[in-house]
Amino acid sequence: MRLQTSAGLLPLISLTTALTETPFLGFPSPWISPDPSDAEWQAAYEKAVAFVSQLTLTEKVNLTTGTGWEGDRCIGKTGSVPRLGFEGFCLMDGPLGVRYVDKASAFPAGMNAAATFSKRLIRARGEAMGEEFRGKGVDVQLGPVAGALGRTPQGGRNWEGFSPDPYLTGVAIAETIRGIQSRGVIACAKHYILNEQEHFRGSVDVRIGDKTMHELYLWPFADAVRAGVGSVMCSYNRVNGTYACENEWVQNYLLKSELGFRGFVMSDWGAQHSTLGSALSGLDMAMPGDMMGPPSASSPPYGSHWGGALTQAVLKGEVPQWRLDDMVTRIMTSFFRVHVGSYTSRPEPNFSAWTRNTTGPQYKYSNRPWTTVNSHVDVQANHSALIRELAAKSTVILKNTGILPLSKSSLTSLAVIGNDAHDNPNGPNSCPERACINGTVAMGYGSGTTDFPYLISPATALLGLSQEHNITFFNTTSNWDLPTAQSTASNASVAIVFATATSGENFVSIDGNAGDRNNLTLWDNGDALIRAVAAVNPNTIVVLHTSGPVVIDHADKHPNISAILWAGFPGQESGNGLADVLFGDVHPQGRSPFTWGKDLESYGVELLTVAPDPRNPRQEFPEGVFIDYRWFLSEGKGERGRVTYGFGHGLGYTEFEYGDLVVERVGGKGGYEVNKGRTIPAPVMGEVVDIGDVEGWTEPEGFEGWRIPRYVYPWVNATVYNSENGTARSPGIGDFPPEARDGGVQEELPAGGKEGGNEGLYEVLFEVKVDVKNVGMREGVEVVQLYLSPNNPLAPSLLLRGFDDVLLAPNATKTVTFSLTRRDISEWNTEAQNWEILTEHQQTVFVGSSSMDLRLNRTLPL
Ligand code: BGC
Repeated sequence: MRLQTSAGLLPLISLTTALTETPFLGFPSPWISPDPSDAEWQAAYEKAVAFVSQLTLTEKVNLTTGTGWEGDRCIGKTGSVPRLGFEGFCLMDGPLGVRYVDKASAFPAGMNAAATFSKRLIRARGEAMGEEFRGKGVDVQLGPVAGALGRTPQGGRNWEGFSPDPYLTGVAIAETIRGIQSRGVIACAKHYILNEQEHFRGSVDVRIGDKTMHELYLWPFADAVRAGVGSVMCSYNRVNGTYACENEWVQNYLLKSELGFRGFVMSDWGAQHSTLGSALSGLDMAMPGDMMGPPSASSPPYGSHWGGALTQAVLKGEVPQWRLDDMVTRIMTSFFRVHVGSYTSRPEPNFSAWTRNTTGPQYKYSNRPWTTVNSHVDVQANHSALIRELAAKSTVILKNTGILPLSKSSLTSLAVIGNDAHDNPNGPNSCPERACINGTVAMGYGSGTTDFPYLISPATALLGLSQEHNITFFNTTSNWDLPTAQSTASNASVAIVFATATSGENFVSIDGNAGDRNNLTLWDNGDALIRAVAAVNPNTIVVLHTSGPVVIDHADKHPNISAILWAGFPGQESGNGLADVLFGDVHPQGRSPFTWGKDLESYGVELLTVAPDPRNPRQEFPEGVFIDYRWFLSEGKGERGRVTYGFGHGLGYTEFEYGDLVVERVGGKGGYEVNKGRTIPAPVMGEVVDIGDVEGWTEPEGFEGWRIPRYVYPWVNATVYNSENGTARSPGIGDFPPEARDGGVQEELPAGGKEGGNEGLYEVLFEVKVDVKNVGMREGVEVVQLYLSPNNPLAPSLLLRGFDDVLLAPNATKTVTFSLTRRDISEWNTEAQNWEILTEHQQTVFVGSSSMDLRLNRTLPL
């Protein structure tokens, strides 16, 4: 891969073009090669090479292509290799648990995991999810999420991911991946990349500059790759003109070459648009394989962009065999890298995603063979305890005038008010894809959901507690009957009022919110309900179950509102986790993973909801790297005064003092070595295919009776092959440069070389130490946060670069140590295509309790 074709042109092109053009040659698609320096990986690679070398052309194609939407029992399923006893891969949503099955847990959402600021808890969540996917016989978990990152607060799927801060998301995605994969399940980092909103997600063209890409959106994916993620899902949208799944800059150049990704890229469901464009630009697995609907006159000849079409493309020499071999080797290396045991005896899926009945057809569209499709295997183990801990420790106390923690012995009466506190009378799974707000909301809607095995509502948990401790309990569910809400609230010494605002994926909408939220206000009359309750009870507590920030300044300022808690989407143990925090049984440690602005406009970013040309919606990201707190805190851009609660903010039940901040240079004196590596030539596995040998690869004779309707098969059709129009050439992609098929030795990229990029980027340059002392009366957790201010004179702002949660008894002190790597203190230099420490400006580190509560700072001695 050459660095760039038009380096000489760079200074000549205008600044605006430079921001969105990608003049770097992303061909050929990088192949994975041996790496004896990493024994574990090398062992997996060797097994994969041995396996792939035995495969025929059509067997290889089978492993790259899904068998079609609802074609099998999993949400995604590849073809198999019956000759070798290898069942196809089973892929299942989603990022918070196993979707479309029973007897599995509903974990807290990604944003809640991030809100704990606890690496230990984030890892444990990943491990527990991995165990459940493994227990169901799933090979690939379709999560975790780092795209949407959370550019706009209304972004429908932000909650599936972690945080709009790329550092926090990077740590969280890496820990989650390590957790999942440690249990023998391949994780899938998705959606790659820039799928930042649901409106127009299948067509929007996001125009983005190289610098914003690296410093913001690509950052967490680098951490995912460094954590050894086995797969990445390319997204629906376009990037600088080309669909993500056939974008050679995004897949070949950035992901596989620069970040050294050695796993496989799968398409989001239906996000593949061509045969050659996707194959030559780095896609490795097509999902769900078909066109996601019954065949029609406009379906491509094979009913799939791959399957038979890919076989044909290889036989025509349009896709070199080494590219196909690389796809399969990547898939199989990921498999052998995380899979435990022998591949022929691996657990099979013991459920069907499409029915809850115990028996049914293995293949829906042929209605046969009739078999046991659901064994109802209970995989929940004791995960409810972890889920409750996560729910409690992700609850953020935004405001507390002293009412919290509540006392079980002295509280006399309690009123619980609002629809969002109560059970859905029809059951927690009664709305398909969780797309309703009937009863308490504990996850968003869309494919990132699961069925609840049960859902403890806040009302249930608080009623139980009240009965146990002789607290008189009042409640009311209606958000619209304000007089009843007020009379209920005025009966009790403390009134807790619940409100929600949810979001999700665009294939379902609630009240005209097509995935993305239409605004940042509370739903279902929530703001009026809060005002009504606060008007009559001076001890009002507000609890929010929302998919992100809402405009809550009115409640922050209200004298009768004594506390505000954000509980996010806490999963099945919602009520128990909340009660643990309200009554102080758990030390609150939740910190907001995003900023709470005073209104939508103050975020400085726009959701694209109307496009002048709806067939070609285009989006620029003029804010660059300045999203969320970076925007609010950046002089000349946002306004600090427009923040109600800052990123990282969250109160506990004690106070901490900071002292003795020391910054020490500990490494990097030897400088940074620009990667000058070269690849090996592209390996070809097993038998070399004869170009033009159509007859050898058509459907075997007598197979017709076995054919399953709509199932995607790998064979070529001689008629299609010979017809002019039946070629696999991609519409609109045009011709490919000769480099696209060049399997010769390639130069690696300067910022590349290892998984996650150049090894030197992760070298620790500075150690930062700070003493934290509990100066309050109670034991408690402090989340110590480290921010860097690069002092860029164009837009000074802050960047999170470290965090740690510490539990301290009263009067106890602990020294917290942070490491700053070269990447942490560098900026992306587009011309050099590398990270660079900018020495002309002073960089300052700050430590504190949130982005708005910085306690101490020191200049970095560069
Ligand atoms: C979503 C993915 C999901 C896939 C399979 C797509 O619509 O964007 O996140 O994994 O469907 O359900």
